[in-house]
Amino acid sequence: MEIKNTIAFVAAAAAWRTISGSKSETPSSEPEQNKNRQQSQCPVSGKKVDGPSGCPFSSGLPLPDPTHRCDPNMTEETKIPDVPPLTQKQREIIKSTAPILAEHGVTITTHFYKNMILAHPELRDVFSESSQKLGHQPRALASAVYAYACNIDDLTPLLPVVDRIAYKHTSLHIVAEQYGIVGKHLIQAIVDILGDAVTTEIGDAWYNGYWNLAKIFINREQEFYSTAVQAGGWEGWRQFKVEKRVKESDEITSFYLKPVENTGKPLPKYHPGQYIAVSLYIPALGYKQARQYSLSDSWNGEHFRISVKREDGVSIPTKSDPTVPANPGWMSNLLHAKLHEGSLIDVASPYGDFFYEPSSSKPDSPLVLLSAGVGQTALLSILNSQLGNPKKPITYATVARNEDVHAFGSHIRDVTTRFPNVKYKVFYSSPSADAVQGRDYDIRGRLDLRAIQDDLHIADKDAQYFLCGPESFMLAQVNELKKLGVDQNRIHVELFSAGDLPPSAQ
Ligand SMILES: Cc1cc2nc3c(=O)[nH]c(=O)nc-3n(C[C@H](O)[C@H](O)[C@H](O)COP(=O)(O)OP(=O)(O)OC[C@H]3O[C@@H](n4cnc5c(N)ncnc54)[C@H](O)[C@@H]3O)c2cc1C
Ligand code: HEM
Repeated sequence: MEIKNTIAFVAAAAAWRTISGSKSETPSSEPEQNKNRQQSQCPVSGKKVDGPSGCPFSSGLPLPDPTHRCDPNMTEETKIPDVPPLTQKQREIIKSTAPILAEHGVTITTHFYKNMILAHPELRDVFSESSQKLGHQPRALASAVYAYACNIDDLTPLLPVVDRIAYKHTSLHIVAEQYGIVGKHLIQAIVDILGDAVTTEIGDAWYNGYWNLAKIFINREQEFYSTAVQAGGWEGWRQFKVEKRVKESDEITSFYLKPVENTGKPLPKYHPGQYIAVSLYIPALGYKQARQYSLSDSWNGEHFRISVKREDGVSIPTKSDPTVPANPGWMSNLLHAKLHEGSLIDVASPYGDFFYEPSSSKPDSPLVLLSAGVGQTALLSILNSQLGNPKKPITYATVARNEDVHAFGSHIRDVTTRFPNVKYKVFYSSPSADAVQGRDYDIRGRLDLRAIQDDLHIADKDAQYFLCGPESFMLAQVNELKKLGVDQNRIHVELFSAGDLPPSAQ
């Protein structure tokens, strides 16, 4: 689509660029609303700051961090403006320009990240380098913005998505001030890519739209931070020590993490299925990175357990480039190579919208846990948390390539001998010649629900289904469950990457 034909050019786009804080902004072009600033006081530090919204929290926004102190160098960028609700006309503009954003979404978000990181290199510590390089994060952001535009009249269907994103944000300790930085660079990227097609009206609508959405996130994230702290958690990073590491398979190693500072209080209770984020300095990059890992055991108050697959990366040489490097994953390889007993690592409080809540169903309603590879971790936590309930039928089915990479097998076999309510089904897609069917695995091939249909509790309309694995695995299982008559609202999925499953699976 030729944008120039789609939206009329209006010279006033230049004025919009000024409002959005473009590079071309000069001191004399400062927007009207920022002139004649008064002083206001930060409610936390008591520091006098510039303008009525000089401190993002002076406008009555909830405090994201009780230790917050106003940065004396706080700039326009980190201010949270008081934006009015969107007008009907602005909603129409957002809806009608959504297709253009969809078409150029990834170009816009890629451009946005590049410029934002140049201006704020400190943000490299929280954004995944690989996710940027592979385009996952730009795609996830572009599709979130598009979904917002399409649902602007009624955001209710988006609330679960907002929660998933807000949980990821809180696990990385994203704070309100950073919405100003993201907003500035995102809107600048829209202007840079769409050019003069962005009229003042369109610019105003998207500026307001961004801030209305940002405030939904800021408020939701504040709720999550408060809940975490009330449950005995903390905001930001806390130093933990590796108490023990256990090899679970050729690729997966478990790390038992204990807080360095002993506060005498147990670790916060988490829901089985939730994750923690960890942060480590990556010497080869020269900065930190953070990644989420599902807690792979039920809560015990003493330590967290995560189980990490070493991502070796795949080299696919081509004729034109026979030496394509494998790009091994930054964090997982560092954890495997360098995180030994006694090593230190920064850990966030547990978060996440994928979990089993026993009170959400009857004690005897079945649980079906379906995983592939390292996707077992989140489901193992759910399984272990329910072992005290002998009334609950549980089916735990998993697929691995072969016995060398199959983790947790002996633990689950032991569980099945102690708890007859637990059924265990193992698929190997390519078992080695030494693997014995009936001992190491049950069924050869990919996980096939038809092959274990008797243990899926399809007839029980209270059965809950939890799935974790690569996207192709989840798509196949969700579609199959739906064909078997399971309602969508009883199917819960966790993806170990940024973004959602494609809509066909939802
Ligand atoms: C909610 C959640 C829970 C999770 N739980 C777990 C868990 O329990 N256990 C677990 O092991 N993981 C889990 N993950 C995944 C984990 O967060 C990391 O994504 C994973 O460990 C890989 O991180 P990394 O830094 O090693 O790899 P990254 O550096 O992030 O790379 C990711 C992948 O991309 C490939 N890659 C990188 N750069 C390139 C390139 N230029 N070209 C081609 N390929 C490239 C890498 O080889 C790797 O396979 C979870 C993720 C989420 C979101
Ligand atoms: C309205 C504004 C925002 C939107 C729509 C948005 C959207 C998203 C989406 C869709 C994801 C992927 C979630 C997933 O993994 O499923 C994400 C992740 C993330 N967001 Fe935001 N976000 C916003 C604001 C911010 C802000 C202010 C920051 C702070 C700098 C931020 C930092 C991150 C980070 C670090 C991740 C993880 C990405 C990674 O691992 O590379 N976001 N966001």
